[in-house]
Amino acid sequence: MTDGLRLTVLGSGYLGITHAACMASLGFDVLGVDTDGRKVDQLNAGRLPIYEPGLEELLREGLDAGRVRFTTSHAQAAAFGDVHFICTGTPQQTGSDHADLSQVNSCVAALAPLLDGPCLVVGKSTVPVGTARRLAAELSQACPGAELAWNPEFLREGSAVADTLAPDRIVVGVTSGRAEQILRQVYARPLAGGAALIVTSLETAELAKAAANAFLATKISFINAMAEICEAAGGDVRDLAQILGADPRIGPAFLRAGLGYGGGCLPKDIRAFVARAEELGAGASLAFLREVDAINLRRRARTADLAHELAGGNLTGVPVCVLGAAFKPGSDDVRDSPALDVAQILTGMGARVTVYDPAALDNARRARPELSYAPTLADAAQGAHVVLLLTEWQEFTALTPGSLGGIVARRNIIDARNVLDPVLWREAGWEYRALGVAEDAADRARQDASPW
Ligand code: UGA
Repeated sequence: MTDGLRLTVLGSGYLGITHAACMASLGFDVLGVDTDGRKVDQLNAGRLPIYEPGLEELLREGLDAGRVRFTTSHAQAAAFGDVHFICTGTPQQTGSDHADLSQVNSCVAALAPLLDGPCLVVGKSTVPVGTARRLAAELSQACPGAELAWNPEFLREGSAVADTLAPDRIVVGVTSGRAEQILRQVYARPLAGGAALIVTSLETAELAKAAANAFLATKISFINAMAEICEAAGGDVRDLAQILGADPRIGPAFLRAGLGYGGGCLPKDIRAFVARAEELGAGASLAFLREVDAINLRRRARTADLAHELAGGNLTGVPVCVLGAAFKPGSDDVRDSPALDVAQILTGMGARVTVYDPAALDNARRARPELSYAPTLADAAQGAHVVLLLTEWQEFTALTPGSLGGIVARRNIIDARNVLDPVLWREAGWEYRALGVAEDAADRARQDASPW
C-alpha cells in the first residue's frame, strides 16, 4: 500500500513528531530531521518533548519496528526521501503580526541544494498565502526534478494522532497530476477510511488553513461577544449557546463561551492572516478579525476584574488560586495561554497568585518564572480568598463545593470556562461568578420557570 515511498519529515515540533509517527504507523519508512541534536536524541530514545495522548506509544512502535528514526543531517534526508514534508513552526514575529517564516525558509534552503533527483517537497506548515509559490520557484531552481505541493494540517493538540490518521479532509495544493498521485499514495489509508480529498491550487491550500482557523476563532469570539451582552442584559450565555447550537446551520462546536482561545495556532494565525491581507491590499476584508482578537483578549481582562470584585475591590496581598496553565485541557502547551495571562494580570494587580495545572507546570515555570506554582490542587487552593478555574481539566470540572470549601479561606470562585453547576456552588455558600452569566441569571431562570 505504501508502494515503497520513503518519507522525510523536517521539523520536530508538534506537527512534525505527530506526522512522522503517524506515517510510520501507516507502514512508511520515515526519517525525521531537526537541527536540535538533543531533541533528535530524545526522539530516537522514544521520549516525547511534548504531552500528547497516544503519541509516545506510536513513536515507540515505529522505532521498535525500525520504521522511523531521527537525524540532524539534511544530506541524509535528501538521500533518503522520495517525499519531504516541511513541518517547521511559523510563530508570530516579535514586534509584528506577521508570521516568522525563518524556519520554513531555512529548511528549504538547507534541503534544496542537496536534492538531485525527482522528488516531491510538501509544505504542511501554516504559511501566509504566496509563500508556496515563492518556495516552488526556489526549489525548482536548485533542483529541476523537485516539485512543491502544499498540504495544510488541521490537527488539534490533544487529539493529534486521531486527527492525522483519520482526518475529515485532506487538502492538497498541487501544480501537476504527478504530485496529486504521490499524495494519493501517501494518504491511501485515510482516504480509504472516508477522508474527503480536495485537490486545489497552492494558494487555495495555504488559504484553507488560515480561513479554517479564522472561522474557528470567529465562532469563539462571537459567542464571547454574546457573553458580554448577557452580562450587560442579564442573560445566560450557556443557554444561548445551546439554543444557537441546536440549529444545524450553526452547530454546537466551538460555541463554548468563557476565557477564550489561546495556544500556538489560533491567536497568531489570525493576526498573520490580517497582516498578509493588508500586504495584498485586501485589509478591509479581514478587518473584522482584529475585533475577533480584541473580544478574545477582553475576556482575560474581564476575568481579572471579576476576581478584583470578589476580593472586595482590592487584590493587594490577597491569596488567589489559579487552576490551569495550559491553553486547553489535554495539553501541556502554554503558548499564548489565557490562564497564564490572567495569572499575570492578577499578579500585576497585587494578588498573591498560586498556579496549579496537572500537566503544564514545567512549561509554565519556564515561560513565566515570576509566577508561583504549587504541585497539587490542594496546595494551590490552601488559604485562598478567590479561586479561578481557567482551564477545564477534568480534575477541576470534577471539583465539588464541599471538597474545595474545606481548603480555601473564603468561598469565592470564578468559573471562567462555564463548567461548574452554579446552583450547587451557590447553595453550598459559595460566591460563584461565571463569564457570560449575569450574577442572578440562573436563579431568575428557576424562579421564572416555577408555576408558583
Ligand atoms: C487549532 C485548530 O482547531 C486546528 O484545526 C488546527 O490544526 C490547529 O489550531 C493548528 O493551527 O495547528 P488547537 O490550537 O490545538 O487547534 O486547539 P483548539 O481545540 O482549536 O482550541 C483552541 C482554543 O480555543 C483553546 O484555548 C480552547 O480552550 C478555545 N476554545 C475552543 C474555546 O474557548 N471555546 C470553544 O468552544 C472551543
